[in-house]
Amino acid sequence: MSALRRVTVKVPATIANLGPGFDALGLAVRFYNVLTVERAERTEVTVTGAGADRLPRDGRNLVLRTAEEVAQKAGRALGPLRVTQRNAIPLRRGLGSSAAAIAGGTVAANALLGDPLPLGALLDLACGLEGHPDNVTPALVGGLVACTLDGGRVRWAKVDVRGTWRLVLAIPEVEVSTAEARRLLPQTVPFPDAVFNVGRAALLVAALTGDRPDLLGAATQDRLHQPYRRPLVPWLEAVMDAARGAGAYGVMLSGSGPTVAAFAPDGACGEAMQRALAGAGVACQIVVTEIDPEGARVVKEDNPVRV
Ligand code: HSE
Repeated sequence: MSALRRVTVKVPATIANLGPGFDALGLAVRFYNVLTVERAERTEVTVTGAGADRLPRDGRNLVLRTAEEVAQKAGRALGPLRVTQRNAIPLRRGLGSSAAAIAGGTVAANALLGDPLPLGALLDLACGLEGHPDNVTPALVGGLVACTLDGGRVRWAKVDVRGTWRLVLAIPEVEVSTAEARRLLPQTVPFPDAVFNVGRAALLVAALTGDRPDLLGAATQDRLHQPYRRPLVPWLEAVMDAARGAGAYGVMLSGSGPTVAAFAPDGACGEAMQRALAGAGVACQIVVTEIDPEGARVVKEDNPVRV
């Protein structure tokens, strides 16, 4: 088996839930972290960009922990690693920054070992670390993904999206912890709300595969998580209204927030979203992007070694 000394992986940000698809739908977008992992004399972590001031540099680092799990699962040893993270995906904004670290870590570690684990094993491992599948699955495989946990295994399928979609992201300069945002969710929901979401999640997949922007307004509505998370994002309705008023087809909270994501024909609604957030006293960054079709990939590998 040919293994590597050093590997560089590019991994996309992800929009989980997409409105009605709570823990079930996710989309990778062209907005990337880049990660280099190499065999070294001693463990060393360098982070630049997002999280440089706070991501752990020791064994708690998510890339290192993930690499260790991949090696264990493969029954192999990686030894000490030098990890260099160049992060664009901001932390705790609902854009899958931890999923990116996990997805990138699995692909990098697997490549260093000569790819002993198949994709399914990487996904199960990644999902075990993340807790839910809707960020790590698209981060690993790219595109639009339908996914669920079935007896501890990730069941997933990539969905062929038709049409040209821009994703406009309003990324507030405030943070939301996913754990806290999950604590706000109820144990049970009214039956009509469950029916509301099932119909819309199905419609959303049909709209994106059938190039039907006209359906997205209804298809991105949600009653399972966004209303309960409103205390953390009190300005959500105002930003969604502003985006729709400025031409967005459909708008939703990205993951557990606070980022708001819009499907749109172009970036024009970004300014309206920014104004609405500013009206609530919240500064934000606007990113206009597209679907990333590939997911985490090796972009550079060096020095094959025989193992
Ligand atoms: N589906 C998860 C949630 C995604 O909404 O809690 C977190 O980014």
